Amino acid sequence: MPLSASKHIALINAVLTTLLFSVVYIIIFLSFFTFKPLPLLIFIPLIFVFAYFISNLLFDQYIKEKLKVIYKTIGLLKPENEPPLLKKRKTDELEIVNSVVLKWSEEKKKEIEELKELAAYRREFLGNISHELKTPIFNIQGYVLTLLDGGLDDKLVNEKFLQKTEKSINRMIALVEELEEIAKLESGELVLKEEVFNLYDLTREVIDFMEMKAANHNTKIVLHSSMNRSMKARADKKRIRQVFINLIDNAIKYGNQKGGVIRISCYNFHNNYLVEVQDNGIGIPEENIHRVFERFYRTELSRSRDTGGSGLGLAIVKHIIEAHRQTISVRSKEGEGTTFSFTLKMA
Ligand SMILES: Nc1ncnc2c1ncn2[C@@H]1O[C@H](COP(=O)(O)OP(=O)(O)OP(=O)(O)O)[C@@H](O)[C@H]1O
Ligand SMILES: [Mg+2]
Repeated sequence: MPLSASKHIALINAVLTTLLFSVVYIIIFLSFFTFKPLPLLIFIPLIFVFAYFISNLLFDQYIKEKLKVIYKTIGLLKPENEPPLLKKRKTDELEIVNSVVLKWSEEKKKEIEELKELAAYRREFLGNISHELKTPIFNIQGYVLTLLDGGLDDKLVNEKFLQKTEKSINRMIALVEELEEIAKLESGELVLKEEVFNLYDLTREVIDFMEMKAANHNTKIVLHSSMNRSMKARADKKRIRQVFINLIDNAIKYGNQKGGVIRISCYNFHNNYLVEVQDNGIGIPEENIHRVFERFYRTELSRSRDTGGSGLGLAIVKHIIEAHRQTISVRSKEGEGTTFSFTLKMA
């Protein structure tokens, strides 16, 4: 068994003390008296044992005090509970403290990495927000300038530009609302108001609400026969309505412009429901699919459609589903369509 640091030092100290005593004893007795070896032979083990125990005790105390300072510095020692490492004396304390400090430095390294990531995320987030706000603000500025430059008197121009202005303002309002929503969700402020509700009725209600928009995009929404009237879910109804709206809104925006079909179905799935929102639209390229739930992420395909989204809808959807401890996934094929599936608790 390896000796602890204090025992090691105590041993060296005891040997040196015994040697010193023996030399002094021999010198004194050779100088002043006749040399008698017997007392020396009795004293040597006594002095050795005595020196060993005293030094061990003192060094032990000393090291313990020093270690306490180190533990306190790295925040491991709370006044009320001394770490067991300080009581345990089986192995070398310095080795223990070495491993503790190493572990501590690794933790700190990880913390610093996380903070760096967070700082980068914040920078990116702010950049994205200002980018998203810039487009409608500059548009509004352009429309207002055109109106001021004489467009106001032109009956055809003024109405068209005011309508455009309103559209840009609506886009800004939608963005601010989404930002507010995501901030709430991420700060954990969102408290779910779970209730039992009829899933069929809710889906029908959302379809009625979105039908007009779908029709404007040459799209129809169908409720698949797998969704029956008796399906009851336990969740925050308002939030789940929002999930449906965001998914159907995407299915319309990125749907098939020549005749879009959005199909909503629901299956029993291990005591849960599996709800699917499927479209026959532009699809998501395979290399982008893992990023669609990221905030502000939009694929190149969707950007080219100029639908005016900010890329927050799916991030909000994912937050809501995960707050319910459920899951959401996506399958897609470019040019063929996309299916979003999420689970809900059966009531
Ligand atoms: N049904 C879909 N078909 C094809 N691509 C989709 C579909 N749903 C989402 N995407 C892709 O995922 C991106 C992110 O979607 P998300 O709903 O988060 O943002 P958005 O619709 O662009 O904007 P917002 O919802 O904030 O108005 C979209 O921009 C689009 O590229
Ligand atoms: Mg969206």
